[in-house]
Amino acid sequence: MSPARSAPGCPPAADMVHATSSLLLLLSLALLAPGHSAKKCLLTGKWINDLGSNMTIGAVNNRGEFSGTYHTAVTATSNDIKESPLYGTQNNINKKTQPTFGFTVNWKFSESTTVFTGQCFIDRNGKEVLKTMWLLRSIVDDINDDWKATRVGINVFTRLRSVKE
Ligand SMILES: *[C@@H]1O[C@H](CO)[C@@H](O)[C@H](O)[C@H]1NC(C)=O
Repeated sequence: MSPARSAPGCPPAADMVHATSSLLLLLSLALLAPGHSAKKCLLTGKWINDLGSNMTIGAVNNRGEFSGTYHTAVTATSNDIKESPLYGTQNNINKKTQPTFGFTVNWKFSESTTVFTGQCFIDRNGKEVLKTMWLLRSIVDDINDDWKATRVGINVFTRLRSVKE
C-alpha cells in the first residue's frame, strides 16, 4: 500500500474547487471587461427619434463621410411627406468612441433644408443614443420675412429594431 495513493480525500478536492473558480473568474474578466470598455458608437444603421421619424445611415468611409435617407414623421408644410436624402460627416480625427457628426437633409417634398449636428453616445445601459440639435430653413418669398425663416430644435435618436424583442 502506498501512502500517496491512499488519501484522495479533502485537500485535493478543495484545490480543484479553488482552481475551477479562479479559472471562471479569469474567463469572465477576459470576456466582459474589454467588451464593455471598448464599445464604440456607430452611426451606420436604422434610427428612430422622439417624434417617430426614422433615418437610415449607410457605411461611414475612412474620411468620415456618409449618406442615408430620412423619413420624417412631422412637417412644417401641408405637403405629403416623402423620404429624403441626407449627407454628412463624422469627426474621426482621434477615432473617439463617442464621435461628433453633422448632416444635411435635402427635403424632397418642400423647398426647405435641415442641418443636424450631434454626438453619438453610449448611455449608462450600454445603448447607443444620438443627441442632436437641428436648424430647419424654410423658404420665404420676401427678404423681409428672412427673420422668421429658421426653426431650431432637439432630437434624440435610438436604434430602430426591426425584430420585436
Ligand atoms: C418608423 O419606423 C416604425 C417602425 O418600423 C414605423 O412604425 C413608423 O411608421 C416609421 N415612421 C416613419 C415616419 O417612417
